Amino acid sequence: MKQDMIVILDLGSEDSPKIAREIRALGVYSEIHPNDLTAEQIAALPGVKGFVVNGGPNNVVDGEELKVSAAVLESGLPILYVDYEGAKCWPEDDAEREAMLRAFVLDECKAETNWNMKNFIADQIELIRRQVGDKKVLLALSGGVDSSVVAALLLKAIGDQLVCVHVNHGLLRKGEPEQVVEVFRHNLHANLIYVDATDRFLGKLEGVADPEKKRKIIGAEFIRVFEEEARKLEGVKFLGQGTIYPDIVESGTKTNKVVKSHHNVGGLPDDLQFELVEPVRQLFKDEVRACGLELGLPADMVYRQPFPGPGLGVRCLGAITRDRLEALRESDAILREEFANAGLNKTVWQYFTIVPDMKSVGVRDNARCDEWPAIIRAVNTIDAMTASIEEIDWPILHKITSRIVNEVPGINRVCYDLTPKPTGTIEWE
Ligand code: XMP
Repeated sequence: MKQDMIVILDLGSEDSPKIAREIRALGVYSEIHPNDLTAEQIAALPGVKGFVVNGGPNNVVDGEELKVSAAVLESGLPILYVDYEGAKCWPEDDAEREAMLRAFVLDECKAETNWNMKNFIADQIELIRRQVGDKKVLLALSGGVDSSVVAALLLKAIGDQLVCVHVNHGLLRKGEPEQVVEVFRHNLHANLIYVDATDRFLGKLEGVADPEKKRKIIGAEFIRVFEEEARKLEGVKFLGQGTIYPDIVESGTKTNKVVKSHHNVGGLPDDLQFELVEPVRQLFKDEVRACGLELGLPADMVYRQPFPGPGLGVRCLGAITRDRLEALRESDAILREEFANAGLNKTVWQYFTIVPDMKSVGVRDNARCDEWPAIIRAVNTIDAMTASIEEIDWPILHKITSRIVNEVPGINRVCYDLTPKPTGTIEWE
């Protein structure tokens, strides 16, 4: 389907993804592209109706001010300048800001409002069928929102040609692998292969403390497991992935320094044998959920809190040990149970515990005990690019604390992380 698009030129502003979301909310598709687009690149972008040039203080890279390319200026398409060479700034008021974007996108660019999930799904089904042909797609099905939505999309597009592989890397939450098998094998009737690779992953991670190395090991090992599974199957040529738009933006565009390499994008080994199918790579998180609902996935699956690919591996800080990993898994299970009891699972976007590789002195049964702290993180966000912390009632925190220090071996202290993103990222590693 023909789809109009507004291009936001990347001049280093942290605001660009927000603007893209605001334009999409008007019903018009929007993407972020480098500031120095050439005429050929512009011609290759489908349906461009206008550009947003969003300046701001990060507009200087290596001492050089970023400029909009001549090709953009000569394209003849409408350009909205904001916060650039003295052009006016964004209005403080949300309604005024929306009105400004609306006037530009709809009146000046005359973009058609055809960006919605029905059209997106219909387009993706066609694109997936065209890309895959009669070959098989292997999907890394973690059971999280992104991979579940990708599974549902692929099932709809290619049915039996989809083979889902659920790898239990030993870094999943309590009860999770069992639930994935139940939902996808029994309820959705997907081809599902379950692989318990706990020992293999924990062996590779032994003694590795650097967060980026841990991510890369987990990502690379994941792909190897898939390759092994693929070799057992006939005709697998593609790997499905739940990469979403913030993964791509945060993994570093030209002006955007790498915040952290999300394992979907950064950790793939060079000898990768598969071609990727990433049908939700254009979507922000809230759009992925809307897509899942449109595909008929149950609401509790679609609104399930996100869980990073490297799983508990990035919450068991530093070099992972089995005993500390278990303490993390148990404390996280208690937190989730108590949040559900208090109804907070419906209002808090992401909540989990972190167990650092440090001990503090405590007292247990009248004797000194050197044990780990469990840190609680509970945040709200729309798109995971920024996040605010959730204010939890004291009695709930007291109950969780009491349960964790009494029920989880090795934990003698519970802390609550009060830091929004920025400066804290949502995960601690
Ligand atoms: P950060 O820590 O970057 O997290 O503020 C933003 C969101 O992304 C999730 N996250 C990841 N997801 N692979 C993933 O699939 C990763 O390596 C990864 N790191 C963070 C995080 O849980 C949060 O929802």
